[in-house]
Amino acid sequence: PTIYFVTPTYPRREQIAELTRLGQTLMHIPNLHWIVADDFDGCNTFLDYLLNKFGIPYTHIASPMPDIYRSFAPIPRGVANRRAAINWIRNNGKKSGVLYFGDDDNAFDLRLFSEIRSTQRVSMFPVGLIGLYAVSTPIVKQGKVIGFFDSWPANRLWPVDMAGFAVNLEYLALSPNATMPYRAGYEEDEFLKSIGLQMAHIEPKASNCSEILVWHTQTKKEKSAVVRIDSKILESDQTSLGP
Ligand code: UGA
Ligand code: MN
Repeated sequence: PTIYFVTPTYPRREQIAELTRLGQTLMHIPNLHWIVADDFDGCNTFLDYLLNKFGIPYTHIASPMPDIYRSFAPIPRGVANRRAAINWIRNNGKKSGVLYFGDDDNAFDLRLFSEIRSTQRVSMFPVGLIGLYAVSTPIVKQGKVIGFFDSWPANRLWPVDMAGFAVNLEYLALSPNATMPYRAGYEEDEFLKSIGLQMAHIEPKASNCSEILVWHTQTKKEKSAVVRIDSKILESDQTSLGP
């Protein structure tokens, strides 16, 4: 089965570094289709230039976050992108394969891909570097998922991270209205509810969830004060270049 690897991304100065690292991970994976959904009004040509170089099949989608959600606190990051990718899968008749949401800043062990490829309905596995407990994982007993270990339960039915599950497309197709909400922190839970997930459907991967094959790494941002100074410099540069 093909893995449809969905990556939300957005323009900022770290973007090329993140996508270069991720693309060079994905270059090792056979039978993978990379859906890169950019939080931007159009398809940036520099992104196509970058994506082409990896030599892997990809689809570049322009999926800007509707302005109204930018005023939310916290903002629902990557939701417009993932929704657009799900719609692309539906509209292009991709009926078999495995869907995985891989953010542009996460770190992936190559073994993750062979684990998720056999997903029958929904597979789950640990994600490292999440919250206070440092790992978010299903709890497995005798080969079955019986609960979850996560530092932010928040009354969620499925307290898992976006990077901690994969979905078979035939299973997804059983829920034609499945979607992801614009609700920060609850995207995973409500998406999994919308596909009618039941505990008995979950396939534990990564040696019964005893291994970490994906990490929620985060790239340190430059302090906003410095960005402000930069834009001041930019402004004054532009002024000095004036007509
Ligand atoms: C965590 C989870 O790992 C995400 O899956 C979840 O979407 C997010 O929280 C959330 O609930 O907001 P985190 O590392 O905190 O992720 O967030 P980011 O990595 O900054 O953003 C998640 C994804 O959305 C990334 O792939 C990022 O490139 C993209 N994004 C972020 C946008 O498309 N637009 C933005 O304005 C910000
Ligand atoms: Mn992230």
